[in-house]
Amino acid sequence: MAGGRLLASEVASQIAIHRQYGGVVPEVASRNHLTTLRPAVDAALRTAALEMADIEAFCATRGPGLASSLMIGFSAAKAMAIGREKPFFAVNHIEGHLLSPFFHCEEGILPAIGLVVSGGHTLLVEIRSFSSYRLLGKTRDDAAGEAFDKVGKLLGLSYPGGPNIDRLAREGNPGRYDFPRSMLGSGDLNFSFSGLKTAVRYLLPKLGVFHLPDVCASFQEAVVDVLWEKCLRAVEETAIRRIALSGGVSCNSRLRARFTDECDQRGIELLIAEPSLCTDNAAMIAFVGNYMRESGRSSALDIDIDPNLRLADSAAAEIAVTFPQQR
Ligand code: KG4
Ligand code: ZN
Repeated sequence: MAGGRLLASEVASQIAIHRQYGGVVPEVASRNHLTTLRPAVDAALRTAALEMADIEAFCATRGPGLASSLMIGFSAAKAMAIGREKPFFAVNHIEGHLLSPFFHCEEGILPAIGLVVSGGHTLLVEIRSFSSYRLLGKTRDDAAGEAFDKVGKLLGLSYPGGPNIDRLAREGNPGRYDFPRSMLGSGDLNFSFSGLKTAVRYLLPKLGVFHLPDVCASFQEAVVDVLWEKCLRAVEETAIRRIALSGGVSCNSRLRARFTDECDQRGIELLIAEPSLCTDNAAMIAFVGNYMRESGRSSALDIDIDPNLRLADSAAAEIAVTFPQQR
């Protein structure tokens, strides 16, 4: 990344490796991070036509996530920063997702309502600036992506279920099965998806034989309905008419189409990252790190990973850089 411009984005996906286990195995994930990290860094440097000596700052995800995987990336980026005497930026993974729709925008575009829908998180956030957030709502149980993956498993689909359900749902009837739209009447902006997953689990044995695309389309429609309705409510309550959709689930074709149509009809501005920036990637971490750098906030080198890091915690971790020449 240079001056907010993305020069290269390398993703060393482990999906194919974890598919055989039906989900992410932490020990396998961290071992693979060890072996893929250096080649991924080299490939990014090659694509950007840069040398390691050209890099002015290093960033890595501090959390939330799997401790053993966070540790690999965090230690490697710190080591590179120490070795080259450059500043280091510890970035919150959720903040990376949240700001990924703003890659080509100036901060002046804000405020916006951010909806992060990933495998681990479902959050509604008021984005006041690129460093100031107010949590409006979150899931009480499963994240939206987790619901896709668990239902995918129930339906015998390979991991991760989300993209497979998306694909199958295109041939299905979303009105065939009436799945619950949980917490639409809760009066707040929180979500719950575990009841929906349970409804699918109970329905399948009752049906015996079922039309897979119809189950996929009906389940997906229930998720999309709730995400849209809660997001619209957040727009109405805050009078902020701009939505920024992010996280792996925002690759979902039905979710993208529904949000695009609804926002068009209501004159609400919609920002969605391109699909390659929706699922986990280092570019979104560099984007936040670059913003931290521009606003003079670097991270101390004794800062550790935090597998349970929350959005509000990231600001507290920003303290003066420890290199003598930069104090
Ligand atoms: O943001 P992400 O790459 O990783 C986390 O931080 O969790 O999100 C991964 C999640 C998985 O649950 C995956 O099933 C879901 O995003 N996902 C999708 C689609 N593509 C990825 N869910 C529904 N439809 C998709 N097309
Ligand atoms: Zn993620």
